[in-house]
Amino acid sequence: MPDDLTALLAELTDAYGPTGSESAVRAVMRRELGPLSDGLETDGLGSLIATARGSEERPRIMLAAHMDELGLLVRRITDEGYLKFQTLGGWLDQALINQRWRVLTRGGPVLGVTGIKTVHVMTAESRGQVFKHDDIFIDVGATSRDDAEERLGIRVGDAVAPDSNFEELAGGERFVAKAWDDRVGLAVMILALRELRAGGHPNTVSAVATVQEEVGLRGAQTSVHHVDPDVGISIESGVASDYPGVTQDEAQEKLGGGPALFLHDSSMLPNAKLRDLFTDVASSAEIPLQLTVLAGYGEDGSAIQRSRSGVPTINVAVPTRYLHSHNGIVARADIERTARLIAETVRRLDRATVDEIRAFD
Ligand code: CO
Repeated sequence: MPDDLTALLAELTDAYGPTGSESAVRAVMRRELGPLSDGLETDGLGSLIATARGSEERPRIMLAAHMDELGLLVRRITDEGYLKFQTLGGWLDQALINQRWRVLTRGGPVLGVTGIKTVHVMTAESRGQVFKHDDIFIDVGATSRDDAEERLGIRVGDAVAPDSNFEELAGGERFVAKAWDDRVGLAVMILALRELRAGGHPNTVSAVATVQEEVGLRGAQTSVHHVDPDVGISIESGVASDYPGVTQDEAQEKLGGGPALFLHDSSMLPNAKLRDLFTDVASSAEIPLQLTVLAGYGEDGSAIQRSRSGVPTINVAVPTRYLHSHNGIVARADIERTARLIAETVRRLDRATVDEIRAFD
């Protein structure tokens, strides 16, 4: 029998939710956040906002994690019944080949695979080449365009999700699944809210499960306007570099090394006082902390930070291997510690502390 956390992670990651088609994930989040909050709303783009009232109405703290995962969208169906597609989010072309997918049709998910030319017909030179995404197609077993449309119910514009089941690795201490980016953030948000509900907090927390992050932080932009927070905390999947081929200059996180605090990514610089508060809380709560300085990356925090007249914001992440592919790996201890760090920090964010964070001299 899987324990509660394992079951929650399996449900969150197995749910199909490519950008723009987040309903299945939203249903899980609605069920989980409902009992932990005083009200649920959706904004006009589809982000789910759970408001948890503590002892004071202000400050208002926004937690954000995104529901969408990388996916594809059917561009056209060939005469032979193959699907050509538009990518949703930042795929590496090599991660698209020879995988299983689910086309999300009106009638339900339809299995397909991204076919690859067999090695038997390749020249020695082409065996070393990368397959470009414009040349890749999905084979759903249809015999013609009519067959794909009429029998399988596939339409142009249908979203396509990666198909890869959640599994425990290493006796349940590590997990492999698709979509850790950012279902692991959603899991952390649920765990943190549970801790805050049990122990109380001197503020109002808006836990927001955002949509359409992978195509430009669109859900964060609209939901932050609705929430109007005093402080923002984005919760993300981090970038582990503890495997062959990645250098410490590219990324600095280790699986099992604790939550990662982003000090730089290409979308945001965090608020310095918020950074110091997080590091203080981590050391007094004896939670190991990792510091991340990335040249690339983008996250919802930057949309929160730049909303209205500006919001002190930071991004906290769970170290993840092999992001943006069918099979990522995370560690159980990192998830639990990230949730604890966020709950402990939110508990410190009373009016005086937030006034001090928002004061610039
Ligand atoms: Co993400």
